[in-house]
Amino acid sequence: MKPDENLLELAKVAWGHAYAPYSKFKVGAALKTDSGQTYSGANIENASFGLTRCGEQSAIQAMASKGERKFSEIVIYTEAEDPATPCGACRQILYEFSPEASVYLVNHLGTIKHYKVSDLLPDAFWL
Ligand code: THU
Repeated sequence: MKPDENLLELAKVAWGHAYAPYSKFKVGAALKTDSGQTYSGANIENASFGLTRCGEQSAIQAMASKGERKFSEIVIYTEAEDPATPCGACRQILYEFSPEASVYLVNHLGTIKHYKVSDLLPDAFWL
């Protein structure tokens, strides 16, 4: 299974826009909605560390702010030796909109991992 090439490119561009002066760990994410639109986001840190926003969250905010609700695939790009997996909070945020979406974790070495959102958050909280 391979990520959508356009999404991977967008995730890399977003990675380049990450603001991570504190951790130096950049994250870029790009997703495709069911309507075919793409949205991307990067992690944005803050001197008040708890205000940091993850890359996945930024991409979801961009999507939902345009009134879109469903995505089919998200690519998360990092330059970690093992491609970074979404944190617990991001898993819940991804799950809110598309539990069945594909999640591709990709790094600069070309390592690819593939999951479904629901694989990453079994027995998720739901209302
Ligand atoms: N980060 C993300 O962007 N996504 C995650 O799922 C985990 C962590 C960011 C937050 C912070 O800017 C940096 O990675 C180090 O934790």
